Amino acid sequence: MTTATASAAVPILTMTGICKSFPGVRALHDVTFRLFAGEVHTIMGQNGAGKSTLIKVLTGVHPTDAGQITLNGTALTIDTPRSAEAAGIRTVYQEVNLCPNLSVAENIYIGNLPQKNGRIDWQTLNAAAARLLSGLALQIDVTRPLDSYPIAIQQMVAIARALSTEAQILILDEPTSSLDEDEVQRLFNLLRQLKARGMAILFVTHFLAQTYAISDRITVLRNGELEGEYLTGDLPQLKLIHKMVGREIDVDSLTQPQAAQMAQPGATFISTHGMGHKGTVHDLDLEIHAGEVLGLGGLLGSGRTETARLLFGVDRCDSGAVSINGHSARFNSPRDAIKHGIGYCPEDRKKEGIVAELSVRENIILALQARRGLFRFLSRKRQDAIANEYIKALGIKTPDAEQPIGLLSGGNQQKALLARWLATEPGMLILDEPTRGIDVAAKLEIMDQVLALCRKGLAILFISSEMGEVVRVSHRIAVLRDREKIGELDAGQADERAVFHMIAGGGA
Ligand SMILES: Nc1ncnc2c1ncn2[C@@H]1O[C@H](COP(=O)(O)OP(=O)(O)OP(=O)(O)O)[C@@H](O)[C@H]1O
Ligand SMILES: [Mg+2]
Repeated sequence: MTTATASAAVPILTMTGICKSFPGVRALHDVTFRLFAGEVHTIMGQNGAGKSTLIKVLTGVHPTDAGQITLNGTALTIDTPRSAEAAGIRTVYQEVNLCPNLSVAENIYIGNLPQKNGRIDWQTLNAAAARLLSGLALQIDVTRPLDSYPIAIQQMVAIARALSTEAQILILDEPTSSLDEDEVQRLFNLLRQLKARGMAILFVTHFLAQTYAISDRITVLRNGELEGEYLTGDLPQLKLIHKMVGREIDVDSLTQPQAAQMAQPGATFISTHGMGHKGTVHDLDLEIHAGEVLGLGGLLGSGRTETARLLFGVDRCDSGAVSINGHSARFNSPRDAIKHGIGYCPEDRKKEGIVAELSVRENIILALQARRGLFRFLSRKRQDAIANEYIKALGIKTPDAEQPIGLLSGGNQQKALLARWLATEPGMLILDEPTRGIDVAAKLEIMDQVLALCRKGLAILFISSEMGEVVRVSHRIAVLRDREKIGELDAGQADERAVFHMIAGGGA
């Protein structure tokens, strides 16, 4: 264990000797963590390293098996979320868990609505909410329903809610995974303001660039243990990756184009002409060959996910034509698309992907079973074999295949979702943000897997907000803007700048 040179200051919070096990899983073992007032402290570590568990211990969601917590020098028992709140510890979880149809103001003060003569005092409520938000440099109509605002604003509201009562410590678990660049900057500006006011901020992210942009201190967890605590300035990026993973890692493959080294693509798998859907995307001409990765470039809202949904039959085309292997095809539902050999890893794994109560095995075989039809059950032996094969191949961290998938860490759920589609041995796979919330090493593993499949003839449509990643793995990049394709770039000529140049209107 390494410890950054202790500054003269005394930490506001210390956690020592924290241990937490779940049946079959040692999630945390003898972990020490310190947090200082006026700092942003990032916890980093691979999927399943114990980051969220440490946070849940601190917020009273999980009782610890062993260890102490002290706040401002005094020992503290945190056994319920309420006791954490009473101690001034506030949390914004990754999923904004507010009430979408209530107003912004109601969301902020829910459970604590101001009353007057036995009724809700709307005037006071709305004024207080507006004041709080304007303190966060956000001037919005607080009487409008929360879901009438984009996710970034909703997240700000979640933060405002966390700050509506005395808070000393603000915890953010992967808050930026669904934000675009501008929104991230807004959030960071806010965090800097709060930090200047002396708040202690604990942040979890998988984006290395963000870690370096915002944090003063980094704690690295590995396999449920403390690897070390560092001042950000003392820990160069490569060293951080090494500490997280516990071994040297070939960083070149994170940055070098991969597609160029791959075999020439084969026959056309899918082609679309003038494909469109009223209100989402229109007039799309796309062609994806066997053994080829087509990347979709474009900003948030440019129509990337809408394109994926059309190609998978989630939304129905109302214009244009689609053909598969040279035969015209029509998808009225995902079922049709699956029958034609298409798989789709959606961007929102919670909403459209995993079934939390089912086991890892059941989640993995789900799509395969759906394609075979309900009356041709896969034998249990076959199910076990498939599940175990992918658990091994993708390094899914779980005690066994029977663990309910909801108990896996976020990144490991994502891997299981990918396994679900790989198990169907599809002709084409649509990957929408497949590496979101996934650590660096797993990201490499997943992309390696994907490219290996591609070499065997799989056609891939690849969507990612990280343009560098798109450029790295794609043979060609179709660039979208305002729900239309504005051009294509070849792997050879494309770099991030070329894509942004095209989006900005510069042409190829
Ligand atoms: N309620 C639970 N029951 C059983 N196992 C759990 C539970 N919560 C977490 N785990 C396990 O504890 C380990 C640590 O999980 P945790 O969610 O803390 O990881 P993480 O570092 O946050 O990962 P990620 O980056 O993927 O979010 C994992 O192996 C996970 O499967
Ligand atoms: Mg987590």
